[in-house]
Amino acid sequence: MKIRKDFLPLSRPSIGEKEKSEVVKCLESGWITTGPLCASLEDKFRDLTGAHHAISLSSGTAGMHLLILSLDIKKGDEIITPSMTFSSTINMITLCGGKPVFIDVHYDTLNINEDLIEESITERTKAIIPVHFAGAPADMDRIMDVAGRYNLPVIEDAAHAMGSYYKDVHAGGFGQTAIFSFHPLKNITAGEGGMITLNDDKLEQRLRLLRFHGIERDAWKRYGKGGNPEYDITEPGFKYNLTDIQAALGLAQLSRLEELNSRRRQLADLYRKELENLKGIELPGVPPYPHIHPWHLFIIKIISIKRELFMQKLSAYNIGYGIHFPAGHRLSYIKKQYGSMSETLKETERAADRIISLPLFPGMKDEDVLYVCEAIREILNHG
Ligand SMILES: Cc1ncc(COP(=O)(O)O)c(C=O)c1O
Repeated sequence: MKIRKDFLPLSRPSIGEKEKSEVVKCLESGWITTGPLCASLEDKFRDLTGAHHAISLSSGTAGMHLLILSLDIKKGDEIITPSMTFSSTINMITLCGGKPVFIDVHYDTLNINEDLIEESITERTKAIIPVHFAGAPADMDRIMDVAGRYNLPVIEDAAHAMGSYYKDVHAGGFGQTAIFSFHPLKNITAGEGGMITLNDDKLEQRLRLLRFHGIERDAWKRYGKGGNPEYDITEPGFKYNLTDIQAALGLAQLSRLEELNSRRRQLADLYRKELENLKGIELPGVPPYPHIHPWHLFIIKIISIKRELFMQKLSAYNIGYGIHFPAGHRLSYIKKQYGSMSETLKETERAADRIISLPLFPGMKDEDVLYVCEAIREILNHG
């Protein structure tokens, strides 16, 4: 086949006229940091998820940091999470003084194996952090059931899950806490940014303070007409606020969520159809319960040749790719601290060396998918 001249990236944000005009409007408005547009994005997230509160942030990681911090972790307290997660979660657990307790995943969906949670709960367990992997919702009924029986909080990692529904509940709407990410790779972006959704009124107040230095009023309230620029701090906080410029972009993107996700679904269907019977790879599994999948990532597993070789060959075809994720229990600092966990994470290990994320973004043409599939067929046929 003829090699394309232009590079097909793993992902590219879909920025249209609406996004551009909303950002310009904000730039011209005289208020560009946290303000009314962040508040409006928070309202929209309450509507989307059904959660009582939404707090906009500079990143999903910032949200995870604040939620773990609010658990008041003592050194050695444990947090249950899959090893197949983004390392930011493992970093935040560690930096808060906690110990990540890794649970194996379902090989096909890469979601946490809910059957293994209960046996990992100890007196020191402080929370459970499932990931809705690639947008496929984790089995929330089962997870909420075990968490409820042990009175443990659940933090949903919904970074991949904009437009993801478990039965008829949107990710982040299960009544406790969740984080979303607006990183440019995600289904909607704000350049960077994140959101916490939650129901607890008291926790919401504390998180809002922790988000911005511990200062009890946002700048736009302090500096607006008749505002009081004085403030006090009762607990020191961070600088984790989103800006209105970012929120302008995020709002325009959110208004297109269904359009963007339905294109992702079409592209994922096309990949599936084209690659269905190809020997040497495995297609992503989908959960067995009712759900809506927003196809944040399309992850295949390479089984007939080494992934490294496969990646080199994809590069030669001018095709981008990603690995989501290098397994957490294999990170050097984790191995150094806790030793090998290979024995209890067999499915994670089996998947970790095989997974590769193929290009998937709404601006892709059908021909792009066909090109990737043809390249994969050639690579596997010629080794
Ligand atoms: C599963 C998962 N969790 C958390 C995050 C962190 O989000 P952010 O990049 O906005 O900090 C990401 C981002 O890539 C992610 O993929």
